[in-house]
Amino acid sequence: MQFVIQGGKPLQGEVAIGGAKNGAFPLMAAALLTGQSTTLHNIPDIADIRNMIELVTALGVEVSFANHTLKIHARQLTSHELKRDISKRLRASIELTAPVLVRLGKVVFPHPGGCVIGERPIDLFLDGYQKMGAISSVIEEMHELSMERPKAITFVFPSMSTTATMCLMMLGTIADGTTTLINCACEPEISMLADFLNQAGANVSGAGSPTITIEGIEKYPDREIAFSNIPDRVETGSFLFLAAATKGHLTLTHTNPSHQAVVLDLLARMGVTTTITADTIEIFPPDVMKAVSVKTHEYPGFATDLQSPLIIALTQANGKSIVHETVFEGRMFWLEDLKRMGAHVMILDTHRGSIEGPSKLKGKELKSPDLRAGMAYIIAGLVAKGKTTIHDVEIIDRGYEGIEEKLKALGADIKRVS
Ligand code: UD1
Repeated sequence: MQFVIQGGKPLQGEVAIGGAKNGAFPLMAAALLTGQSTTLHNIPDIADIRNMIELVTALGVEVSFANHTLKIHARQLTSHELKRDISKRLRASIELTAPVLVRLGKVVFPHPGGCVIGERPIDLFLDGYQKMGAISSVIEEMHELSMERPKAITFVFPSMSTTATMCLMMLGTIADGTTTLINCACEPEISMLADFLNQAGANVSGAGSPTITIEGIEKYPDREIAFSNIPDRVETGSFLFLAAATKGHLTLTHTNPSHQAVVLDLLARMGVTTTITADTIEIFPPDVMKAVSVKTHEYPGFATDLQSPLIIALTQANGKSIVHETVFEGRMFWLEDLKRMGAHVMILDTHRGSIEGPSKLKGKELKSPDLRAGMAYIIAGLVAKGKTTIHDVEIIDRGYEGIEEKLKALGADIKRVS
């Protein structure tokens, strides 16, 4: 499928931000861990969530999904194997290894898939699981882990990892004592997961800071759980940079500005005005934008997932910016295609790109290389003069719900063509 965009239209209006993609996955995994009847609100209706539903259904879990509400009841799990083909579609499949291991004492899974933005190893998960008592082997390219009740340990992450922090935290909730995790990732999705687990009966403290302490319980109590997912930080940031790049006037609703401190500060340094309330961000069209140099960083730093939307905005700013990608090593190659659109960009090395602006972008035919760079091409297409065709938009559907409807409502000329 393709998106065909006629760029240069002024964009204005309101956009409702959906629930966090990367928040929904750990909530689904945690629902398997507790085994209780769970209702999750504000779950985005995107392809990756549908994939995750397929994966947990294949484990014998009862799931229903309508109107952004996901009901999930993992009374019992009937399989300890994560289906290879589905797991290969999304990185988040690895988050299911923790609950399956806890519930069944065994899990079999392939190396998880997801966006090709670097090597994406799983050594931190395996190391943590083994230190908590798991025996690990690889048979026919499938990882196999087995364990009794997890051992409470002190584990130091040599580097921060969002999903590995989530997995070890889940295991720690039913370990045989106090688990301390050090050098944890601090994303709001991790604090939210801790809130969910605590609501279900766990004792997690410190989530959102680099040190998390978990007092293990023997078993989750019988308790129905209803929980609301947080707004998507990356969708919010994508629309903010889309507004800046196209000089649009947008109001984002159903979001959480307190998760966007670094993005809002960056926009201010670029000369873009925003105003916030508790759950909205209004962004005003800038007269001129200034170049800024940015390093991606773990939360609360500038999110790697927003690097590509930011770069499109920087093509419209005055001066030279350097963007330094510190989290993944394969996230700069898409700049080659942006160059074909007329942007003055250069890949300096696998981690750094330079952007000289402002440049007039021209519509081109492109292929979505990964989820976030695909979104960046949409923004570039909206800025560009003429027609832009983006192929493989299924990759963008993995993370952005109804993106063309949202954009059309703002005045964009975008069509989905199969
Ligand atoms: C999550 C997000 C992704 C986001 C990323 C960084 C999900 C489903 N995905 O991915 O959108 O871009 O956080 O904010 O939530 N690493 C290792 N060994 C491991 C695990 C990770 O070396 O076992 C490295 C990675 O290669 C990367 C860095 O650690 O260089 C951070 O990755 P990590 O935080 O784990 O990203 P994900 O959890 O995969």
